[in-house]
Amino acid sequence: MRVVVGISGGIAAYKAVGVVRGLVLAGHDVHVVPTASALRFVGRPTLEAISRNPVETDLYDGVAEVRHVALGQSADLIVVAPATANTLARLAAGLADDLLGTTVLASRAPLVVAPAMHTEMWENAATRANVATLVARGVHVVGPVSGRLTGSDSGPGRMAEPEDIVATALDAVRRAERRPLAGRRVLVTAGGTREPLDPVRFLGNASSGRQGVAIAEAARDRGAEVVLVAAHLEVPAPDGVRTVPVRTAQEMLDAVLREADGAHLVVMAAAVADYRPASVAEAKLKKADLGDRLSVDLVRNPDVLATVAAERRPGRLVVGFAAETEPDRERLLALGRAKLQAKGADFLVVNEVGLDRTFGAPDNRVVVLAAGGVIAGEAAGDKRSVADAILDVVVPHPAGA
Ligand code: CTP
Repeated sequence: MRVVVGISGGIAAYKAVGVVRGLVLAGHDVHVVPTASALRFVGRPTLEAISRNPVETDLYDGVAEVRHVALGQSADLIVVAPATANTLARLAAGLADDLLGTTVLASRAPLVVAPAMHTEMWENAATRANVATLVARGVHVVGPVSGRLTGSDSGPGRMAEPEDIVATALDAVRRAERRPLAGRRVLVTAGGTREPLDPVRFLGNASSGRQGVAIAEAARDRGAEVVLVAAHLEVPAPDGVRTVPVRTAQEMLDAVLREADGAHLVVMAAAVADYRPASVAEAKLKKADLGDRLSVDLVRNPDVLATVAAERRPGRLVVGFAAETEPDRERLLALGRAKLQAKGADFLVVNEVGLDRTFGAPDNRVVVLAAGGVIAGEAAGDKRSVADAILDVVVPHPAGA
């Protein structure tokens, strides 16, 4: 495989030699493109000796062979290590006034960047925004890790180790080879709705949003354009995913109906309140007015999943979840089968929940039911691997492919 290693000007440039060497030893044809400032940290002869290829730096070298785009066009993988704050900004902006800039712009290959900088620079809002932009475009970011920096300071900002960069880069190529959701829109709901009783109180549930967020990430990594309709997530929304925050079941229904337009796959992992208080008090409810007992009149909420399933067009796949507390597997599956039919979804992901199970936990165990109630797959493990297993089952389905 033909790999371009871009090196930008930071002290970690000396460690980039290890990245080049790792890729060469793995049998790849490596071409190094240092920026002008990188050459102040590491010499061209070193890079040529380790990469076993000539090192070009100048945009105006080899103009006859249209060198400034040829390198990018022919690359199967581009790794930028270290990527300084300046280089991340330049990549995010699409600047092309040096050989590394033109090479990256002229390439469709996976791009892996290994940031290295002082903690303040890494945490600066400008750098955060540039990294988010790059991730949204499918760029893979490895590191930085926490540790000793160049001066007397330490913290997040150290470049990842060369072997980790090489491993991430090769993995990015393998993943790019299987991006079955490229060009597809995926809508995921996650979290738990809250139904207000008064301005400060609500009826809610224990959903953390972890499983839905993991599904959004897994779909993003398979190349999909992902919209996450999120109700009160306890975990950060993933980078590279458009998040639409909602509070109540009704808001979730409105957002889902709006966003489902053009979606090829809809996964409803959110825990939606089935009932809401019939009226919401305008002012805080007071014990002095209520006395020792309080009854709350509840009315049914719309069923988001059933509505979306009923309104779907050909080519859209709808996946629901079922949260059940039934411990007996056969009875659990029977409940799942009944729910699959009642909701009209293509698939139903059944999981057993309890006071200290599933909700909020890092792990999950699910059974995926397909039309007719047949078991299409089972998975257990951390929520990301469960998410991948769910997509492995539903994506090859004719309507979802
Ligand atoms: N769901 C929904 N709208 C609702 C209730 C549930 O869209 N008002 C969706 C959930 O997102 C999930 C699926 O329906 O994908 C099943 O949710 P679950 O809570 O297991 O089932 P319920 O429909 O609430 O049924 P019950 O509480 O009677 O088990």
